[in-house]
Amino acid sequence: MMGQDWAAATAMGSKATIEVIWPGGATGSAEVGQDWLPAAAAAGLAIPTGCLTGSCGACEIEVNGRVVRACIATVPRARSGRLQVELASDPHW
Ligand code: FES
Repeated sequence: MMGQDWAAATAMGSKATIEVIWPGGATGSAEVGQDWLPAAAAAGLAIPTGCLTGSCGACEIEVNGRVVRACIATVPRARSGRLQVELASDPHW
């Protein structure tokens, strides 16, 4: 669904952006529908990765309190207009 929104916005030449508050408090913006890993890299944040296929969980981040796997997730829309991102820590890693 969100990918379709992003595709439609891109086709119309107007990419939606959303405010992102990165771990540590830096604030920036990302394109809705963009993959999380390049969005984070553009903000200077290296999200740990492993498999890059969504199965290992090494890349888990919390986005507005919801855990997602950054290697397979995209930047969502949010009613609040902003996304708070935190690195999720797994005590088993
Ligand atoms: S890198 Fe393994 S789940 Fe994302």
